[in-house]
This record gives sequence, structure tokens and C-alpha cells, in this order.
Amino acid sequence: MLSGKRILLIIGGGIAAYKSLDLIRRLRERGASVTPVLTRAAEEFVTPLSVAALAGEKAYRELFDLTDEAEMGHIQLSRVADLVLVAPATADLMAKMAHGLASDLATTLLLATDTPVMIAPAMNVRMWEHAATQRNLAVLRGDGVAVVGPNEGDMACGEFGPGRMSEPLEIVDVMMGVLGDGVLRGKRMIVTSGPTHEPIDPVRYIANRSSGAQGSAIAASLVALGADVVFVTGPAEVTPPFGVELVRVETAVEMRAAVLAALPADAAVFAAAVADWRVVGASDSKIKKVAGTLPSLSFEENPDILAEVSQLHNGRPDLVVGFAAETDDVIANATAKRARKGCDWIVANDVSPATGIMGGAENAVTLISDAGAEHWPRMAKDAVARQLASRMADALR
Ligand code: C5P
Repeated sequence: MLSGKRILLIIGGGIAAYKSLDLIRRLRERGASVTPVLTRAAEEFVTPLSVAALAGEKAYRELFDLTDEAEMGHIQLSRVADLVLVAPATADLMAKMAHGLASDLATTLLLATDTPVMIAPAMNVRMWEHAATQRNLAVLRGDGVAVVGPNEGDMACGEFGPGRMSEPLEIVDVMMGVLGDGVLRGKRMIVTSGPTHEPIDPVRYIANRSSGAQGSAIAASLVALGADVVFVTGPAEVTPPFGVELVRVETAVEMRAAVLAALPADAAVFAAAVADWRVVGASDSKIKKVAGTLPSLSFEENPDILAEVSQLHNGRPDLVVGFAAETDDVIANATAKRARKGCDWIVANDVSPATGIMGGAENAVTLISDAGAEHWPRMAKDAVARQLASRMADALR
């Protein structure tokens, strides 16, 4: 719950501003009070009247509104909140925040505040992917700003990709984690994610198509519920989530060492697509191409991190969750895998190319546990992550 928490909500000027109306309702339902601030551009998308009516508080609009200064100065306004949330955070607002501009009420509050700041970015996919936005994002993360989303999907402008603002309930979950009210507070978790790269020589490696999206979303959902998460990731495409203890690795052997070093933990989720084999005697120098001859590679087996941690006699996490990416007989294979590895749960999914799951935004999983096989409907990877995190929270209670 968010009872008694004061949220200063800065609404930026983007089409996603309509979701901020629902967000206000969700926050108030959970006991938070919301002081809304609209940028000038936000007023093109939502009216101050509807925002103020839902918030049950005045909607602040202009920096030099003398009445506001008499009521509550902008410095004071920036300090009364437990959290400043910018939703939607447009590319423009993010750029201004990253550069410390204070050119209107919203940016002045953001510069003057001494409370935690969270942003929910929303913009066109090209704007999100632009080097300038990504640079600003990195600066904001470095400044300690929490970032939720954006999600991937169809956009109002007709394009597809990352840029949609996170849904109000996702934002609320992350806020509860940031504000310290999560049900997993005090629990330590390890999450592995991404592919591993197994070197052949200094320039060549063997890899797989894992994007790291599902592991990253799970770590974010666990953080949102208040867990302390050690996130051990191979070289993944997706950016690691906010608020984790990040450990970057390349190979399976490094991943195993990082996981063992992160123990003890209350739970561990092994979402990484660990390479099964590594090249024996990877060369320290680049293997030369010699006309008419082919190099030969031989392989050795990588350590099975999930099996090792599941079978620890001392210091086994209370809950160990593995994944099974299968293309045939998903349930039978995943059930056998659960027994073989000794983990508590297996999250099984069908990664046949026709499903579009590997590297895609959605997942259709079956949770295999002591209780049998439970089919979950096909949903966004973020939604799978939230559901799994809340099941884990139930199991660890
Ligand atoms: O045996 P398989 O690779 O199908 O098992 C998948 C599960 O085991 C995943 O949870 C994966 O993260 C984990 N795993 C591991 N170490 C390996 C291979 C798989 O932790 N070497």
C-alpha cells in the first residue's frame, strides 16, 4: 500500500498523458495523495480540471503564478513529496532533466527537489532510440533517477517498438518498491539473464539469440516488490533494470562464479540462456585464415549453474526457479528437467520459431511445480515477470 505517501506527479506533454489520469486514480486507491503539476505541453493533452478533479488537489501549472508562490513556493512544493514521479517523461523533459535546466515549473521542481525521482518515459520509438535520448537516460540513471519502462508495442504514431509508457499498475508496483513498501523487502534474490558468449579466440565467440528481456523484466518485478536483487547478466541486448546490484559476465564459467559469490539468497531465478558448451583451449590470439585448411573446434561441457545451486547441501536458496525453453513436448521435457536439476519450479515455454517468443515481446509459459503444470495465457514478458514475482512473494511469505 501507499498509505500516507505524498506523490508529486509531473505530467509531461505526450499522448500518454491520458494514462496519467488513471495513474492518479490508482495511486489514490492505494492511499497515496497526489499533487499534480502539468507542463505547458501537457495541457494540450489533458486538462488541468480533470487532473485536479481526480487528484482532489489543485493542479499546478505556471512557475511565476504569484498565487501559487503565496500558497506554496516551488521549492517547498518540491520538498513535500515522498517521491517525484514524471509520467509521461517526454524526450524533451528527459533532456532538460539531464542538463539541469529549470525553464518552467516542472523542471524547476525537478532541480530543486531532494526526494527520490522516478520517470516513466513515453515517446516515439526513434526518439527513444536516438543516441541523445539514450545518453540522457544514462545520465539520469547515474544521477539516481529510477526508470520504469518504456514498454514495447504499437504506438499512437503508428510505429512499433519501445516507447509506450508503462501501464499505471506497473508504475505503481515500481513505486511501492522504491518507497520501501514491497512485500519482498529484506529478501535477497539472484537473477541470471541474457546469453553467454563463449570465446573461440579474442574476436570470435559462440552465442545464442537470447535478448535478456524476460530475465530483465523478472529482476525489475522483484525490485518493484522491494527485493534486493543481484542481477547476473551475460551480454544482453536489453538494458539492465533500475535498482539491481549489477554483475556483468561473458561466459558460463564467469556466470557460475558470480552466482556462487552472490549466495546466500532467499531465492534464485535462472533465466539466462547459458551456453551448454565452451570451446576447449580458446586461443589467446586471433586464429589465422589459412587457404585450403579449416580450423577444428572441440568442446567441453559448461557447468550447469541451475543444477548446482538446486542441489547445494548448504546454503540452497529456499526457492529455486529454472527455465525450460523447448521446441517439442514442452510439458514432458520441462517436467523431466525439473526433476533432473532439482529446482522447485520450472517456467516452461515453447520457443519454436512459429511462436515468435525467442527475441519477441510476448511469452506463453507453463509453470511446473510440485502441484503440476499450470498454463498461463500468452501475455507480454513484463506481465509474465510480474505474475512470477508475485507468485514468488506468496511462496516466500
Ligand atoms: O538444460 P537447459 O539448458 O535446458 O536448462 C535450462 C535452465 O537451466 C535455465 O533455467 C538455465 O538458466 C539453466 N542453466 C544453467 N546453466 C547451464 C545451463 C542451463 O543455469 N549451464
